[in-house]
Amino acid sequence: MALFWGKSEQAQPQVDFSNLPRHIAIIMDGNGRWAKTRGLPRTAGHAAGAENFRTIATYCKEIGLDYLTVYAFSTENWKRPAEEVSAIMGLLKKYLLEAISRMERDRVKMEFFGDLSVLTPELQALCRRTREISRHYEGCQVNICLNYGGRDELLRAAMAYARDCVEGGADPNHLSQEQFSGYLYSSGVPDPDLIIRPSGELRLSNFLLWQSAYAEFYFTDVLWPDFSKEELLRAIAAYQGRSRRFGGV
Ligand code: FPP
Repeated sequence: MALFWGKSEQAQPQVDFSNLPRHIAIIMDGNGRWAKTRGLPRTAGHAAGAENFRTIATYCKEIGLDYLTVYAFSTENWKRPAEEVSAIMGLLKKYLLEAISRMERDRVKMEFFGDLSVLTPELQALCRRTREISRHYEGCQVNICLNYGGRDELLRAAMAYARDCVEGGADPNHLSQEQFSGYLYSSGVPDPDLIIRPSGELRLSNFLLWQSAYAEFYFTDVLWPDFSKEELLRAIAAYQGRSRRFGGV
């Protein structure tokens, strides 16, 4: 089934909705520049970015995507001015409160990847609650990466495995890739098929380092707050045109 979407002058993204990637991951980049071009404070860019996350997450559920993972706050983002960090945390709190109040209607399973222990007790409690209420929902799962870093995730996994070797009887000479994946925040979630980075930056920035091994990448100059449903479909159409060989021929 090939469907067309949108009516803009640009080439229409032609997407086969019966063959969507199972898991899309997005680096929500460009909020600051979006605000700057409008003469607004960076925090206004993050507010627009959070709004766009709602739009895109809802749309992903509508089209039947299984997994959406977004990079909301990295282990390195603490270096930003306190005011900006606090604005992002405020937006997360607002989002989680809304998500909890609409959970029965939306029925999206929500997970968090990252070390939540350094967040405020209130934010930690909201994350726990969101995860707990939504844990039985089936269909779309949204993973929010919060205080997440790919290297940090790998170190934590290595330490957890080392502990299991010392205390839990795990064999230090035998560890499969599947077993190691089970120590990651993303345990049980299939690797992303498609990683999207808007805003013109061409790097991974410590995002899903293990999980991205065979992901297809899609880069665009569009800034995250302007990354529309149509842009998403353009990314999916590009993905569907790729030949994935996973190291084979
Ligand atoms: C990167 O853009 C964006 C972030 C570090 C924060 C992302 C946060 C949100 C979208 C809001 C909260 C999220 C949710 C899930 C409700 P940037 O600031 O680096 O942009 P720039 O490169 O243009 O400066």
